Amino acid sequence: EKDGHDWFMRKEIFEQPRAVADSLLGRRGVDGRLQLDEMRLSDQELRDITKIIIIACGTSFYAGMVAKYAIEHWCRIPVEVELASEFRYRDPILDYSTLVVAISQSGETADTLQAIRHARTQRSKVLAICNTNGSTIPRESDAVIYTHAGPEIGVASTKGFLTQLVACYLLALYLAQVKGTRFGDEIDQVLGQLEAMPEQIEKVLALAPDVYALAREHVQSRSVLFLGRHAGYPVALEGALKLKELAYLHAEGFAAGELKHGPIALVEEGLPVLCVVPPRGRDQLHDKMLSGIQEVRARGARTLCLAEEGDEQVAPYADELIRLPRVPVLLQPLVAVVPLQLFACELATALGYDVDQPRNLAKSVTVE
Ligand code: F6R
Repeated sequence: EKDGHDWFMRKEIFEQPRAVADSLLGRRGVDGRLQLDEMRLSDQELRDITKIIIIACGTSFYAGMVAKYAIEHWCRIPVEVELASEFRYRDPILDYSTLVVAISQSGETADTLQAIRHARTQRSKVLAICNTNGSTIPRESDAVIYTHAGPEIGVASTKGFLTQLVACYLLALYLAQVKGTRFGDEIDQVLGQLEAMPEQIEKVLALAPDVYALAREHVQSRSVLFLGRHAGYPVALEGALKLKELAYLHAEGFAAGELKHGPIALVEEGLPVLCVVPPRGRDQLHDKMLSGIQEVRARGARTLCLAEEGDEQVAPYADELIRLPRVPVLLQPLVAVVPLQLFACELATALGYDVDQPRNLAKSVTVE
């Protein structure tokens, strides 16, 4: 049942190319344009949206952070991302022109469910991104984008996360198509890049032995930091969460630009810092990230860098370097998170912990 793997989690990590491919299946109409069959909101309803609030918990919240970058960039609609447990208790501003997007793998998370119930009392439309057919959250939503990860057994979300990212990109592209904020050609191009992702993820999975070796070198670590920028920031947060929940290690993710505003004080000799390096582009993201890496390294950190193929600038500052395929910055989370999942899984295994059933955690959190 685990296909020869020791853990469901490991099996599910390796299923990700298939899960991503399945979540992209059937999304193009005969004319090649993007279609979402469970959308159920009319084009006019979507054009009337002036604000989007994404609500979710845990890993699903990090998918929502990536969605914010994608939706604001492609659709020019303001997006807030909020933890479901905070949302309902702060008297949020909602009305009929607000679209609430609830992201939940299980579709049963109590905090998220209560949040959408509240949103609906305020006449907001609710769209669910969910992996579980017929679960409560999609049943109580106006529209659904189902992910097709298949059942996720490991308590730590892996393929659930990647397919949520896919659904978020599809939603962003669909809104851009309906609102006309992007040309069809560009939407088509990004869809093509998404369709090439399963192959890119396979390339990252082929590096598993290197990542495992790296993880085993860190069994003695007491603390691990994760740095990212832009879409790599939620990846850093997700990498840290995986390590906390599986290896019971102190792990924290930061936006690299925040280092000098406090976290750099944590850096001491030998501290492992995992750095998600953005692709080289026209913006200054990549170079800014490099200076962050230099700063922590100058203070004794051991830098473990994930950087795209061909990025030679990072090499002198990387104590360890894992190569990612070259993909656009917004899509990079789909490849960058995979080594972090493998790292946490292997480190927890080496420490002798139960990766599929971490202590104190439940797969679906049905109490608030
Ligand atoms: C982390 C993890 C949790 C869930 C969170 C939300 O690996 O699995 O943080 O992401 O409990 O669950 P769903 O997506 O089912 O609402």
